Amino acid sequence: MSQQDSIDEAVARLDRGEVVALPTETVYGLAALATSDAAVDAIFELKGRPRAHPLIIHLADADWLHEWTLAPSALALRLAEAFWPGPLTLVLRPSPRVSDRVTGGQPTVAVRVPAHPLAREVLRRLGRPLAAPSANRFGKLSPTRAQHVRDEFGNAVFVLDGGACSVGVESTIVDVISEGSPRILRPGGVTREQLEACAGISFLEGGGAVRVPGALASHYAPRATVEIVSTAELSNRVDAAAAAGLRVGVLSFGDAAASDAAASHATATSRAAVRGALAEVRLPSDLTEAARELYAALRSLDAQGLDRIFVCLPADEGVGRAIVDRLRRAAGPRD
Ligand code: TXA
Ligand code: MG
Repeated sequence: MSQQDSIDEAVARLDRGEVVALPTETVYGLAALATSDAAVDAIFELKGRPRAHPLIIHLADADWLHEWTLAPSALALRLAEAFWPGPLTLVLRPSPRVSDRVTGGQPTVAVRVPAHPLAREVLRRLGRPLAAPSANRFGKLSPTRAQHVRDEFGNAVFVLDGGACSVGVESTIVDVISEGSPRILRPGGVTREQLEACAGISFLEGGGAVRVPGALASHYAPRATVEIVSTAELSNRVDAAAAAGLRVGVLSFGDAAASDAAASHATATSRAAVRGALAEVRLPSDLTEAARELYAALRSLDAQGLDRIFVCLPADEGVGRAIVDRLRRAAGPRD
């Protein structure tokens, strides 16, 4: 099927209320018409997500904001102008057109304008917004390649292949209902530094009163258990786990060419650690590049049937905040 045929197919399926996996610049989404309760129900069904957990509504253009939200604040409009289309989700008051199915009954709605050209074309042609969570089963790793979605859902969902996602971690979610005290609910592709530079005020961080599935302690989780360790202890931890009969993998950040003494010590330590590990992935020290590869790296480690993945975290700054957030949640306690 040509790409144009695939786009036509995706639009036709969505138009008749089906769920379709669409590429966005952050991660692939499991999309359906936000205007159809039956279509939105089908997303929850497929994903295995509890119904009370709200979905993000995707718009073709910032102009649509006025139709789907109530009186967006000047701050919201300013952020929309600066970062849309792009990896920023705004939490606002919903207009009466927004179904309770999407908001899970919350008095708020999350909206964003994705930047991926295929997502935008599909939205423009539908002329209606799409509700879309990440295209993974509830609690699992987000997909950043079409194949990730096929691996997880097989033939149960039509996948529009838009290549590898350019951002690779989910959108930054910002509660901008209160103009004077905006709050970052989930770090993501747009950094705190970028938000604050645009808004000229500082942003609060951490959960508000809203239930955010991405904010559960264990989320974004591979099958293997994930344990966060410092580079200094990595070698010993890998050896001990391997000696105990575990199949061990390592995920780390930064390249071997690090210049200062501390960094080169860390590099030597982790090089030694590879001996006890069956698999190691080292992501680039450039955090933007690392974010792009993060989920694919975790999936490739997971595909090797490991019992444990030891992770050395990258710098908790810029888009590194989103990486650290996801890895901490992957390491969170499980039921
Ligand atoms: O980058 C993204 O945001 C991707 C792509 C597909 O757009 N979507 C995504 O959706 O990550 P999902 O459902 O996996 O995560 C959306 C998060 C959830 O944690 C949800 O609880 C939160 O957004 N959310 C949705 N509506 C909300 C609301 N009204 N207030 C606060 N959080 C909300
Ligand atoms: Mg998700």
